[in-house]
Amino acid sequence: MLAVLAGGALAVALLQPSSPAAGDDPLPYQDPTLPTAQRVSDLLGRMTLAEKIGQMTQAERIDVDADPSLITTNALGSVLSGGGSVPASNTPEAWADMVDRYQRAALDTRLGIPLIYGVDSVHGHGNLLGATVFPHNIGLGATRDPKLVEKIGHITAEETRASGPQWAFAPCVCVARDDRWGRTYESYGETPRLVKSMETSIDGLQGKPGQLDHADRVLATAKHFAGDGLTSYDESAAGTGAYPIDQGIDRVTRKEFDKLALSPYVPAIKKHHVGSVMPSFSSTDFNGGSTADAVKMHGNKQLITGWLKNQQKFKGFVITDWRGIRQLPGDYRAQVKAAVLAGIDMYMEPIQAPNNPTGWDEFIPTLTDLVGDGEVPMARIDDAVSRILKAKFDLGLFEHPLTDRTHIGDIGSKAHRAVARRAVAESQVLLRNKQRTLPLKAKDTVYVAGSNADNIGNQAGGWTLTWQGGSTNVVPGQTILDGIEKAAKGDVVYSVDASKRVPRKAVGVVVVGETPYAEGFGDVGGPQWAYDPGDAGQPRQKQTMELSKADKQAVRTVCARTVSCTVLVVSGRPMIIPPALLTQTDALVASWLPGSEGGGVADVLYGRSPFIGKLPVTWPRTVAQEPINVGDKQYNPLYRYGFGLSTR
Ligand code: GLC
Repeated sequence: MLAVLAGGALAVALLQPSSPAAGDDPLPYQDPTLPTAQRVSDLLGRMTLAEKIGQMTQAERIDVDADPSLITTNALGSVLSGGGSVPASNTPEAWADMVDRYQRAALDTRLGIPLIYGVDSVHGHGNLLGATVFPHNIGLGATRDPKLVEKIGHITAEETRASGPQWAFAPCVCVARDDRWGRTYESYGETPRLVKSMETSIDGLQGKPGQLDHADRVLATAKHFAGDGLTSYDESAAGTGAYPIDQGIDRVTRKEFDKLALSPYVPAIKKHHVGSVMPSFSSTDFNGGSTADAVKMHGNKQLITGWLKNQQKFKGFVITDWRGIRQLPGDYRAQVKAAVLAGIDMYMEPIQAPNNPTGWDEFIPTLTDLVGDGEVPMARIDDAVSRILKAKFDLGLFEHPLTDRTHIGDIGSKAHRAVARRAVAESQVLLRNKQRTLPLKAKDTVYVAGSNADNIGNQAGGWTLTWQGGSTNVVPGQTILDGIEKAAKGDVVYSVDASKRVPRKAVGVVVVGETPYAEGFGDVGGPQWAYDPGDAGQPRQKQTMELSKADKQAVRTVCARTVSCTVLVVSGRPMIIPPALLTQTDALVASWLPGSEGGGVADVLYGRSPFIGKLPVTWPRTVAQEPINVGDKQYNPLYRYGFGLSTR
C-alpha cells in the first residue's frame, strides 16, 4: 500500500509539471527575451486542468474582496468591476491598491500567472470619481473626428491603467438602428461606415502593436458581437418590466447582418488589432421564423468560431457578457458546454452575493466535469487558455504585474479635461438657428432654465459612478450652466422651472432632456425598477423619447418672454420635439451626453468654437417613425442623418 501510495504520489508528482523554485534560472515562460508564442506554449505545458480552467474564469470584485485568497485557491485568471463596483474609497490610489491586492493573490499561485482586471471605461474611466468623463459615443460620432476619438481613447487608457485595471470593455462597435434602444448612446451612429471610422478609439486604448505593455495603454474590447443594435422592438414586452428591445432578436437577413453587424468587426480585428471581443446578449433569426428559431450569440459557434476566429483570423480572446451563458437553452451544464464549444474563451460569471446563488464557483466544477467526461476536448481548453495568456504576455503583466502609477497624477488633469471640452464642443449639432440666434452675445442678459441645465449627473448619463448613472451622481467638472456663467459678461438668471421673472431683453437658453439610464433600463417602455444604490428605492424615470411636461412648459414660458430662445437637448438619443414647440424656438441644439466638461457647450453657444457637429443618427418626427435610418425607402425625418448647421 505504502509503495503504491508512494508510487502513486510519485506518479502524481511526475504528472504535475514542475513549478519554478525561487532562485532557479527563469523557466522559458518567465523569460521576456523569448517569443510570446514560445512562452505561451511552455506555460501551457506546465498547467494542470484546474489551472487552465481558472484562467478561463472571471469573478466580480465583490466575490473576492473580503478574501482574495479565493483567487489563489481557484487560480482565477481575471476579476472585473461591474458598473458602480468600486473600492470603499473611490480614489485612484484605492483602485490601484485594490487591483494590486488581487494581483498579489494571483501571483501566489503555483505558476504565478498574473491576473487581468477589466472595467467599463466606456466614456473615460467613468466608475472612478475624479476621472475625466468624456461625451458618450453618440456625441463622439457627431464630431466625425477620428483623430480626436483616438486621443480620447489614449487618455481613457492612461487614466484606467494608472488606477489599476489593464482592460477596458470598450468600444461598443454597435450600429444603433432603433433609437428606442437603451444603449443607443453607446453607439457611434446608425451606419457601419461611421462606426468603423470611430474605431480609432481602439488605437487610442491599445496603442500600436507592441505598446500594450505601456503604462498608458489597456486591452480593448470590441462589443457586443454581433448585432446588438439590430434587435427588433417587442411591443408586447413594453411596460411589463422586461426589456422591449435590449438583448432582443435581430430579425434581419444574413446579408443585412453581414453589412450592419459583422462588418465593423473586420477593421477592428485587421486594422486596429483589438485584443478581445465580447458576444452580445442578442440573438439572430435570419429566416424570419418563430422566436424559437433565434440563436443566442453566446452559443453561436458558426459566428464565433467559424466567422470571427477562423475566417477573420481573430487571435485575441472572447469574453462572455455578464452571466451571458445563463441565457442559453438547457441546464447550466448544457449552457457551459454550448458556450465553450461555440468558441468563447473567458467567462464573466460573477456571484456578486447576495445577487446570485452561484457564479464562477459553479462554472469551474461544471467545465471540469465536461472535460473529464470527454464532452469538451482539451484542445478547446488549450485554445482558450493560449489566447488569454498571449494577452497577458502582450500586456507585460508577467514582467510588471503591479500597477505602474507613473500617470496616476494625470487622472482628471486640466490637459485631459481640455480634450474632453473640445470633444463636447465638436459634438454639438446645430439643428435650427433662425435669424442667426447663435452665437449669443456675451454682453446680453441670459435666462437659463430646464431640467438638464445644472445637473452633471444627467449630462454624464449612464456608466458614471454607478451602472445606471444618476441625477444625483456628482463628478468634478462643469455643468452647462457653469459654462454659461463663465462665458457670459451680462447677467445670468437661472430658474430650473422658469418660475423666476424673466428680465426685459433677456435671451433664453432652455436645457431639456433625459435622466440617466443604462442597457434595457433605457429602452422606451423598459423597466423602471430602482437599481443603483443612489436610487434609494425610488423607481427610475420612464424613458419615452418625449420631453417631460416640465421641460415643455419651461420652453413655452421662456420662449414667450425672451428676445431669442435656444433649446439644448441633453440626451442619449434624439427626442421628439412637437411641431408647436419647435416653431417657438429660435435655435435648437443636440447636445447628447457631454460628460464632465459642460463648458464645451458654452464654447459653441458663445462662438468661442464653431458648430461643426453632424447628426450620427436620424432625428425622427415621432417615436412611431422608429426604426428610421438613412437609406430607408420611406424617409421623412425631422432632421436627416448627417445634418448639422455650421457657424464656421
Ligand atoms: C454589461 C454590459 C457590458 C459590460 C458588462 C460588464 O451587462 O452588457 O457591455 O461590459 O456587463 O459590466
